[in-house]
Amino acid sequence: MKIVRTVSEEDFDREAAKILISKMRTPGGIVMGLSTGRTTGAMHRIAAELYRQDPFDISGVTFFAIDEVTGIPDTNPWACRAKLKYELLDSLGVKDGNFLSLPCISEDYIKDGEKFIAELQRRGGIGFAVVGLGENGHVGFNQPGTPFGNAADAGNSAGGVLLSSMDSGLEDRIRTSCGLGSDVRLGGITLDLAAIMGAKEILLPVKGSAKAGILREVVNGPVTENVPASILQLHPDCTLLADSEALSQL
Ligand code: GLP
Repeated sequence: MKIVRTVSEEDFDREAAKILISKMRTPGGIVMGLSTGRTTGAMHRIAAELYRQDPFDISGVTFFAIDEVTGIPDTNPWACRAKLKYELLDSLGVKDGNFLSLPCISEDYIKDGEKFIAELQRRGGIGFAVVGLGENGHVGFNQPGTPFGNAADAGNSAGGVLLSSMDSGLEDRIRTSCGLGSDVRLGGITLDLAAIMGAKEILLPVKGSAKAGILREVVNGPVTENVPASILQLHPDCTLLADSEALSQL
């Protein structure tokens, strides 16, 4: 894993935005996965601003969200689809056909997920994926204990999707902010680890001292299902972009 250190959070956000823009400029187009959350909001907004200042043809870029919240409409501001549109994709003028997302609400999540994976493959497979890190070591919604399966053989399978529980911190934030009662069942649907590891290139952006401990385990610890992101050690082209605070325990 290559490590790029930034001195401050501001540098981190700007550097991450510049990487996003440079990947969008890939000749011939690219299929690009994005993550939502506190880590990526500023980088999306800065990327939108960089694009506004210097627009280019993005008609060859397919964007998708690597995971999604289930149990709320996809227009809810906590839905990954809604967040990505608001933070970045609407500013870029991305057409609906070039933005794929996993379902927030579905009769058959797995069937819809399989179609989603097949469409990513049809468009050439995942060229670049931004993969956020959870405080418990999750990537996407692959929570600790998720079996690695064949995910270590990066690139040898298209992977799939899985339904998962949400970590309690995020669930509390969504419930409080939306005033949702306990009758509303929340969860997550995510690219599984094989699908994530199948991306040709991965960016793991991590900032802030709250993730310093888990980041040490991700980078220096054993590759273990207890820390799903540790599997990224085995990816042939994964870059960790982190600020000094996040790297303080390495
Ligand atoms: C969430 C999402 C991930 C996200 C990660 C980090 O639960 N499922 O896609 O990247 O956790 O979120 P944050 O940046 O807010 O810490």
